[in-house]
Amino acid sequence: MAKKTKKKAAAKPKTKASSKKVVKLAAKKNGAAKASMPKMSNKPFGKDGKALDGVRILDFTHVQSGPTCTQLLAWFGADVIKVERPGVGDITRGQLVDVKGADSLYFTMLNHNKRSITVDSKHAQGKRVLDALIKHCDVLVENFAPGALDRMGLTWDYIHKLNPRMIVASVKGFGPGPYEDCKVYENVAQCAGGSASTTGFRDGPPLVTGAQIGDSGTGLHLALGIVSALYQRNRTGRGQKVLCAMQDGVLNLARVKLRDQQRLAHGPLTEYSQYGEGVPFGDATPRAGNDSGGGQPGRILKCKGAPQDPNAYIYFITQAPVWAPICDLIGEPTWKTDPEFATPKARLPKLNQIFARIEEWTMTKTKFEVMNLCNAVDIPVGPILSMKEIAEEQSLRKTGTVVEVDHPVRGKYLTVGNPIKMSDSISDVKRSPLLGEHTDEILKDVLKFKANEIAEIKNSGALSAPEKKEKAA
Ligand code: COA
Repeated sequence: MAKKTKKKAAAKPKTKASSKKVVKLAAKKNGAAKASMPKMSNKPFGKDGKALDGVRILDFTHVQSGPTCTQLLAWFGADVIKVERPGVGDITRGQLVDVKGADSLYFTMLNHNKRSITVDSKHAQGKRVLDALIKHCDVLVENFAPGALDRMGLTWDYIHKLNPRMIVASVKGFGPGPYEDCKVYENVAQCAGGSASTTGFRDGPPLVTGAQIGDSGTGLHLALGIVSALYQRNRTGRGQKVLCAMQDGVLNLARVKLRDQQRLAHGPLTEYSQYGEGVPFGDATPRAGNDSGGGQPGRILKCKGAPQDPNAYIYFITQAPVWAPICDLIGEPTWKTDPEFATPKARLPKLNQIFARIEEWTMTKTKFEVMNLCNAVDIPVGPILSMKEIAEEQSLRKTGTVVEVDHPVRGKYLTVGNPIKMSDSISDVKRSPLLGEHTDEILKDVLKFKANEIAEIKNSGALSAPEKKEKAA
């Protein structure tokens, strides 16, 4: 299959300069855009390096949002150099520690495939190292509190002057506006981005979700911005600033709720349970419990073992096109034609009754039995998988989504590998670096400092911990 595609693609460009290494391709028939394309590789797919080979990242990130982004870039082949404060490092190294003396899982699971150098960015010799890093890197990624980078002297103007090709990518809590100076963590972003007000049950308080949509979600957004900026740089030759505000990232993920906000002006949201229950709507998108966001009624239902087993549940969607098989499966074949149940509109006021009947059926089966029976007739359902079940799921191990990694201090642990699979850029998961593990090799091999210069920098104290600096508990 891969070979076929290659052949076909190879035949396409009628090269005018086929002998040359670089051939010019008309990217569009109208000739508006032209792209320089290298000669097509004849190596097997997956054997010609990685997507971001040759890209070097000055990784000034910490905690979760920034490290998520740079970990993805590292998985795609970028050389990610994590700059950490001497003696302390990324604060998460010492947070939620489970194995005494080892970097926490919080840190290890967000910093794979990176190298670590310790530099005091406020020390003159540290600045010298940072300047050299700026000159040798393509992208600086940071998620410091607003103004922190400027306070280090690393303003956009300064960086752009040193290296006009450098892309400076930042995560901040809020974009420009009244809250731009605020420090922000995950749940603050979930609340400010509209997720919390629309999550939970109508009669309960707003809820945050377990998925880290503020931190990891914004890291993902930033990674896309960086890759796009790198692509644009191929044409313009210059770097640019990339900013992802966590509030914006969360709102982007919660956009269906802003959709519903506007629909409210035209009447009630009929797919929300509260419509069928006769509860009036207010002036803002309400919390919808476990209703589905896609317009098809859905609920989480008990299966065999619930509620003693907290995860013996299944998400069940009564999608209109599969109403007939649902009726057959649950033993209510007359509901297929009974005008009280036959149409989605007729069902809306009876969703509680309908789901109660479906639940009677699901409670006689395990969630996996329900899944098998439903999928056999194309009814979409989602078993509520515990983290234990996910960790043990062999198919996720096979795809590299759940990976076992060995670490010299903590030993073996599980992590989530690259969720984005590419056929010609295969990700491997390498353990996270120890604090400052690569300081020497980066100074020597990347920054090309001579031995006497390295000695001078080291002796200055710019790369080592001040006396008796305590690690964060
Ligand atoms: N050498 C010397 N100083 C360093 C350093 C280094 N290598 N690395 C960091 N520092 C300093 C910074 O310069 C800053 O000093 P300053 O306040 O004197 O300017 C200080 O460390 C603290 O940085 P800061 O980013 O303010 O950390 P914090 O722990 O106070 O705040 C956050 C943490 C996450 C709240 C904040 O960084 C933030 O709001 N970031 C943007 C949003 C974000 O990404 N949030 C989610 C995180 S998952």
